[in-house]
Amino acid sequence: MKVEKSASAIGAFISDFDIRVVADSEDVQKTLNTLLTEYGVLFFQEQPVSPQELLGFARCFGKVQDHPAYSTVNGVPEVQILESTKEAPNKIEHWHSDMSFRKKPPIITILHAQVIPASGGDTLWASTEAAYASLDEDMKLKLEGLSALHEFEHGFRESLSEPGGRKRLAEALAENPPVVHPVIKRHPISGKKSVYVNRLFTSKILGLDKEQSAILLENLFEKIMSDELTVRFSWKVNCIAMWDNRNTQHKPINDYFPEHRKMHRITLVE
Ligand SMILES: [Fe+2]
Repeated sequence: MKVEKSASAIGAFISDFDIRVVADSEDVQKTLNTLLTEYGVLFFQEQPVSPQELLGFARCFGKVQDHPAYSTVNGVPEVQILESTKEAPNKIEHWHSDMSFRKKPPIITILHAQVIPASGGDTLWASTEAAYASLDEDMKLKLEGLSALHEFEHGFRESLSEPGGRKRLAEALAENPPVVHPVIKRHPISGKKSVYVNRLFTSKILGLDKEQSAILLENLFEKIMSDELTVRFSWKVNCIAMWDNRNTQHKPINDYFPEHRKMHRITLVE
């Protein structure tokens, strides 16, 4: 296995490696867990694996979680399909940590590229640990003890406003009421602190008035998307990205309309 840093604050490329060996080796699982905690996101090139094999790999790192809004692979319901077509282009445009609208959001997300546009469709990741570290001491003190509201309804507002959207997502809405998370979270393995608010799902910081909350959130969102805290990945078919949602955020770049892009995704909880 070869490990190369992808950017200064976040990410590593893993090469000379086949993810199919992971299920049979606890040592390799430990190594990957350590690398993931350190780098936030791992990129594996050329992994032509089936959805079942992807699932076998994923299960080494956590319990599979379902998603209320996405379709799944035939016969492998644990594997979600994220697809963007001319008829139904991707609507997620903002920086986020996956499914922070859940009380127990996924710790890890794995994406496996199936169809990639000729150009465009990159993904950005940011280190929320580095974002925290870059705050001045007064700000760190101010954020300690604050909590914020995260809402499915806030994140999927565009889908909900489409004709029939509210009806289609009625069950998802009912099952996912707003949840509260601390603004600063500590990583359970590394002990490092991260900023845990995101532009997609975080609607408000509790205990502040609407304007104060909006200003503080905007400050933090700006910090997280600083160029020097991010890495940009250009996909090829069969690439895999695996990331830790506790110390990173990511953002898809929707610059390939009307081309087709299709990913398989698995999200894992502890
Ligand atoms: Fe995401």
